[in-house]
Amino acid sequence: MCAKIKSLAEFTQGKDDYEADFKVPDGVQIYCENLIKLYKVGEIEVMALQGLDLSVQKGEMIAIIGNSGSGKSTLMNIIGGLDRPTAGRIYVNGINLLKLSDKQMLQYMRETVGFVWQNTARNMVPYLSALDNVKLVMQMAGKVDSNRAHMLLETVGLADRKKSKMHELSGGEQQRVAIAIALANNPGILLADEPTGAVDTKTTAQILRLFHDLNEDMGVTVVIVTHDRQLSHMVKRVVTISDGRIGTEFIRQHEINMDSEELMNAFAGHDSGTHVEYGFIDGRKRLAIPEEYLRKAGLTEKSKVLIKAEDNSIILTKPEEIV
Ligand SMILES: Nc1ncnc2c1ncn2[C@@H]1O[C@H](COP(=O)(O)OP(=O)(O)OP(=O)(O)O)[C@@H](O)[C@H]1O
Ligand SMILES: [Mg+2]
Repeated sequence: MCAKIKSLAEFTQGKDDYEADFKVPDGVQIYCENLIKLYKVGEIEVMALQGLDLSVQKGEMIAIIGNSGSGKSTLMNIIGGLDRPTAGRIYVNGINLLKLSDKQMLQYMRETVGFVWQNTARNMVPYLSALDNVKLVMQMAGKVDSNRAHMLLETVGLADRKKSKMHELSGGEQQRVAIAIALANNPGILLADEPTGAVDTKTTAQILRLFHDLNEDMGVTVVIVTHDRQLSHMVKRVVTISDGRIGTEFIRQHEINMDSEELMNAFAGHDSGTHVEYGFIDGRKRLAIPEEYLRKAGLTEKSKVLIKAEDNSIILTKPEEIV
């Protein structure tokens, strides 16, 4: 399987002059640069991504948060190969996704990424067992590994429910099968778009812990989209998207013990102080400032600010009086 992926990477390498000199930074598995996505519906154009830059390291687990319509799913679909950007760069595992034919994209989707949605169960066959659903996905990729199918269902905590039909499982259990299915063909990347949107709080915590364990134990890179800020407290790096661009990032300062009460505390949003927030200066030297900070400083959009540069810091203040 690796050989095939390598051939995809080789295929796209230096395919045109613009990309010939480009090299993805070391250790970066998902590389997005200046991604633009324009949707056209009749006469109306929607700019879903407006120059988005994002790098995810191999083996990282990140959460992406943002308001409804900010471009989260658009980004995930592009990383997952379900959609193509209008412009920009997107490399995954060194593969230039813009250069893949539809057939190669299908191969990429089967082998490189696993996808979990809010209601993934609707893509499964209801009259088949959990085990057969996992095997079915393997079969579609050309190779059924029965031992792996069993192992995956055990890993997601469904050792006793392998033979249960999908409709006999709870929403949380169905999501666990979905995660096993996403991992069926041993992808290096797991993409989850609102995976806990349809389950209760306790199940959400369990599913998140599962993602955390898969990331730690199997080394799978995990990208989770959520609009739940509390949920994102459980992840080390949280990236915010606003208006189709990366806003700020939160990086957790210490490792959280997923087996202790700390998990539930984090989930309840009581771990303030553990994350440090970072802004992001884009290629045109612009910095997005979170709205609540502007509000607290008495600033609004398009207002003039007083800029003061001091040693290692820049201070923005509302001017007393504008002359
Ligand atoms: N297939 C499409 N055709 C036209 N417009 C689209 C399409 N998909 C998304 N959009 C638009 O692009 C913007 C970003 O949508 P997207 O689904 O990425 O947002 P989101 O952050 O995932 O939102 P939510 O939290 O509600 O899932 C929205 O304005 C949406 O209406
Ligand atoms: Mg969405």
